[in-house]
Amino acid sequence: MAKKKKILVLNGPNLNLLGTRQPDIYGRLTLAQIEKQVRVLAKELAVDIDFRQSNSEGELVTWIQQAAKQFGAMVINPAAYTHTSLAMRDAISAVGIPTIEIHISNIHKREQFRHHSFIAEVAVGQIAGFGVESYLLGLRAAVSRC
Ligand code: DQA
Repeated sequence: MAKKKKILVLNGPNLNLLGTRQPDIYGRLTLAQIEKQVRVLAKELAVDIDFRQSNSEGELVTWIQQAAKQFGAMVINPAAYTHTSLAMRDAISAVGIPTIEIHISNIHKREQFRHHSFIAEVAVGQIAGFGVESYLLGLRAAVSRC
């Protein structure tokens, strides 16, 4: 039997506040509720997922570095680090794992400083603006790449 595909789903800073954080922009689902929906889809697609969140750039970089040994693809919502983190970008290109960048909101419709992503340049592609669906579409894209 073929080995089950493993996908790492990473969430950056302040996403632990989903549910109460600017619900007009990010909706009312908590991160735990989003995780539940991602797990339901993962089961349907017969893949294993590891779903994590950190407010620390260093911890996210370490998780990306470690992913090379365990995961076939990554889905990342880097949150504000999207727009600032050369370290995350370098980690993704160093490990070379297919990475799908996702955002709940459409960053291109928002403030100018959100339009540039350091991650997009090393990602397979970007999905933005679909709320929780961004996670589900991201998972489907990751499964097709690993
Ligand atoms: C976000 C968009 C980012 O600009 C912002 O800093 C976030 C969340 C999103 O999912 O829409 O924290 O990544």
